[in-house]
Amino acid sequence: IATPVPVIGIDGPSASGKGTVGARVAEALGFQHLDSGSLYRLVALAGMREGVALDDEVALARIAAALPASFEGDTVFLAGDDVTNAIRSEACSVGASKVAVLPAVREALFWRQRAYRRAPGLVAEGRDIGSVIFPDAPVKIFLTASAEARAERRYKQLIDKGMPANMDDLLSDLRERDARDSQRAVAPLKRSEDAALLDTSEMTIQQAVDFVLQQAAALRS
Ligand code: DC
Repeated sequence: IATPVPVIGIDGPSASGKGTVGARVAEALGFQHLDSGSLYRLVALAGMREGVALDDEVALARIAAALPASFEGDTVFLAGDDVTNAIRSEACSVGASKVAVLPAVREALFWRQRAYRRAPGLVAEGRDIGSVIFPDAPVKIFLTASAEARAERRYKQLIDKGMPANMDDLLSDLRERDARDSQRAVAPLKRSEDAALLDTSEMTIQQAVDFVLQQAAALRS
């Protein structure tokens, strides 16, 4: 009997650090890596570029189903255009959270996400990886941090990049997105009972990486 390709699912709120942690864990294990949030960000960006309203479910689902996205290492392309920075803008963060409430968009992205499960294994992060996309994942982590800690990290990132940042705005944007992601009807952000809770408010990235690797060590034995 073939053993299924292992999946390490990391779910959690915006700016919790799951992207960085997921990328490092994938690298350490030599696994495939899927940052599912980038797909929702790409749908929002493509929609905005085409002048589509971010609540137009039919048009956005069509965009999601044929999303001309590709990834090369850390670089993200939309129709050949390097959009690595563009999808991280506040406008795309808010936009992604809006398109993510639409069931037809989630449906269109479902199989694209499932296709990432390839040997020797996959590290995937998002909101519904452990609950909807890979409910059979042998390792599930719910990675979170206080809203204040997350806003502060985002603030530092923006300042480091020489971009304007306002702590109060960041905090209220984060809270608004948390509420939308947790309260939507379909696949809301929620810790599944079988996910290990990791609160990184007082942790370094490396400590969080080590925690996930420790959970994953069981896969090898
Ligand atoms: O993880 P992130 O901040 O890049 O995600 C951007 C938005 O996409 C977020 O507001 C919620 C949505 N999302 C989702 O609904 N399901 C996922 N698996 C990943 C992201």
